[in-house]
Amino acid sequence: MNELQQLSAQMRQAVNAEMKAVLHATDDTPNAFYGMMHYHMGWRDEQLQPADVNAGKQIRPVICLLACQAAGGDWQQAVPAAAAIELLHNFSLIHDDIEDASPTRRGRKTLWTIWGTEQAINAGDAMFALAHLAMNRLVDRGVSAETAVTALRRFDETCVRLTQGQHADMDFEQREVITVDEYLAMITGKTAVLVSLCTELGALIAGADSETVEHYAQFGLNLGLAFQVIDDILGIWGDEAVIGKSASTDILTKKKTLPVLYGLNHNGALRQLYEQEQTDEAFVKQAIQVLNTTGARDYAIERATYYSENALQHLEEAEPTGSAFTALNQLSDMLLQRDF
Ligand code: IPE
Ligand code: IPE
Ligand code: MG
Ligand code: MG
Repeated sequence: MNELQQLSAQMRQAVNAEMKAVLHATDDTPNAFYGMMHYHMGWRDEQLQPADVNAGKQIRPVICLLACQAAGGDWQQAVPAAAAIELLHNFSLIHDDIEDASPTRRGRKTLWTIWGTEQAINAGDAMFALAHLAMNRLVDRGVSAETAVTALRRFDETCVRLTQGQHADMDFEQREVITVDEYLAMITGKTAVLVSLCTELGALIAGADSETVEHYAQFGLNLGLAFQVIDDILGIWGDEAVIGKSASTDILTKKKTLPVLYGLNHNGALRQLYEQEQTDEAFVKQAIQVLNTTGARDYAIERATYYSENALQHLEEAEPTGSAFTALNQLSDMLLQRDF
């Protein structure tokens, strides 16, 4: 086992116990309301019977706790923040799957396809509020009230930016021309600010000075940008069985992901295709064919590599220490190479 595998196994265990406490998950069968949330988290099946299935990669809490440790703190103190961020992420996925009309997530049916859109909105709303309650548990671990309040403020500011990113993402589906700068602002909101919050709060709870906290925040921001660009690539060329979600809905819904944006800017045939109102599987096939001949994938890989390198530069400037530093490097590499 390398440093990342060793540390992340312990950290995931602590975060999952914390999330279960916040979501009132016990051995008893949950009621219909909590049951939806427990289903989404992979703890229950559709009939609300116990399940222990893939609950996602859980990279955000691991990044948060590794940043705390690398910045000289005790990662156990940051567990409530890591759990809160993972819950906020899961809230955003529940609503995102409604917004994107996505039928599958993590290899299972999405919550809204089982319980309907209305109840999925309720489940998401509750998970959003529970994520905030999770943040309040920081003081129980000896984090000062002042640090906890600052962390909660940054958490709320991030929620607003994330929602703004989701707003832009939906808006772009309807628009024909999107610039790369607009795209970057959109993914900064929908994905990168949350990864940035992970590293920022980790360093903040460790008691790092403001300059160091800012380097950690920038490390997370760039890592988040690289992560989203890779996600864009997998949303077109990924193997559905491995990524656990559809590899055609991004094109079916005309998502302006980075490879598509590149294709639209460099290939008239794709622009013409995208003028088509209705989309179907044949449309997806054609679009991918054009993207393949336009170098869209290589371009996106090059951009992801660029952000990943930026991220590691900021990490170095934060002067991290110990095995958590090694693990953060390993995690960054893994995220760039991932096919899942
Ligand atoms: C999916 O995030 C949504 C994005 C911001 C790209 P993840 O790929 O981290 O999802 P899980 O939690 O591992 O399923
Ligand atoms: C998800 O973005 C971002 C948030 C939920 C905030 P996407 O819609 O691009 O991610 P997937 O492909 O559904 O996981
Ligand atoms: Mg979306
Ligand atoms: Mg989506």
